[in-house]
Amino acid sequence: MDLHYEDPGVDRLYSRIWGEDIHYGIYKSAREEIPVATQRAKAIMAEPLRLSERSYVLEVGCGYGATARFLAEQFNCRVLATNISQAQLKYAQDATVGTPAASLVQFEEADYHELPYESSTFDCWWCQEALVHSPDKPQVLSEAFRVLKPGGYAVISDQIFRPAKLLPDEIEAVRDRYQTSAILGPADYAAMIQHAGFELIEHRDWQKHAAIHRRKILERLEALIPELQAELEPTTLERNHKSWSAWATLAEQGKLGFDYFLARKPQITV
Ligand SMILES: C[S@@+](CC[C@H](N)C(=O)[O-])C[C@H]1O[C@@H](n2cnc3c(N)ncnc32)[C@H](O)[C@@H]1O
Repeated sequence: MDLHYEDPGVDRLYSRIWGEDIHYGIYKSAREEIPVATQRAKAIMAEPLRLSERSYVLEVGCGYGATARFLAEQFNCRVLATNISQAQLKYAQDATVGTPAASLVQFEEADYHELPYESSTFDCWWCQEALVHSPDKPQVLSEAFRVLKPGGYAVISDQIFRPAKLLPDEIEAVRDRYQTSAILGPADYAAMIQHAGFELIEHRDWQKHAAIHRRKILERLEALIPELQAELEPTTLERNHKSWSAWATLAEQGKLGFDYFLARKPQITV
C-alpha cells in the first residue's frame, strides 16, 4: 500500500502546490492557468458518461474530493468517493460541508484493490491518476468490473511512463518512487483493461499536456521554496523537488505521459 500521501509534509506539499486537484490538466496553450486546465480535464472525462441524477458514481483514490464535488454539482449524481489516505479524506469531508455537493457526495475509506461494496452497484467507476500507485493494477480493474453494473463505465486517467524510452537510471528512479518492478506503458493498460472483461471504448494519448503540467508544477514549487523551507522537513522538500524535476524533464522528453481510457462493462457477461 502506497502511504506517500499520509506523510504530513507530503500532504502539505501537495495541498500547497497542486491545490485540490492532484491530477494533470488539458491545456489549450502553455500560458493557461493550472486550474483552468484541471477543470477542463474533469469535464472532458465526464462528457461521454451521460451522468444524471439517477447515476451512482464510485470514485477511487479521490484525493481532496474536488472531482467528486465537481461531478455532483455538474450532474446532480450521487458520488461515493473513496481513498486510503485519511488525511485527504478529512480534508475532502471538511471542504465539502456547506457546498451544493454536500448532500450528494459521501466519503469513505476504501482500498481500491478490495472494495467493500456489493457487485453490480455503480453506474460509473472513476479513477483519476490513482492507478499509478497500485502494485496490482489487474486486481484494481477486476474490482472495478465487479462493482459496476452491466453497461457501466470505467473512466481512467493516469500518469503513464513510456518504458521503452527510459534509460537504466530513469527506470531505477521510477521503480524507487513507485515501489514497483514493472513499469507499464499505455498498451499494457489497454490490455489489462480488456483482460478484466471490459470493452475498451477509447484511449487518448495526452502526453503533451503532461509535459506542460509537470513544468508548471515544478515552477510553482520552485517559486515557493523559501516559504516551504520554513514549513517542511528539508528531506521531504529535497526528495520531492528532485523527483518533480526529473518527471518534468522526462515529460518534456516524451518519456512520461498522461493517458485517458474509457471502458464499459458489457451488458451481458459470460
Ligand atoms: C495523484 S493522487 C490523485 C487524487 C485525485 N484522484 C485527484 O485527481 O485529485 C492519487 C490518489 O490515489 C490514492 N491511493 C493510492 N493508493 C490507493 C489505494 N490502494 N486505494 C485507494 N486509493 C489509493 C491516494 O491516496 C491519492 O488520493
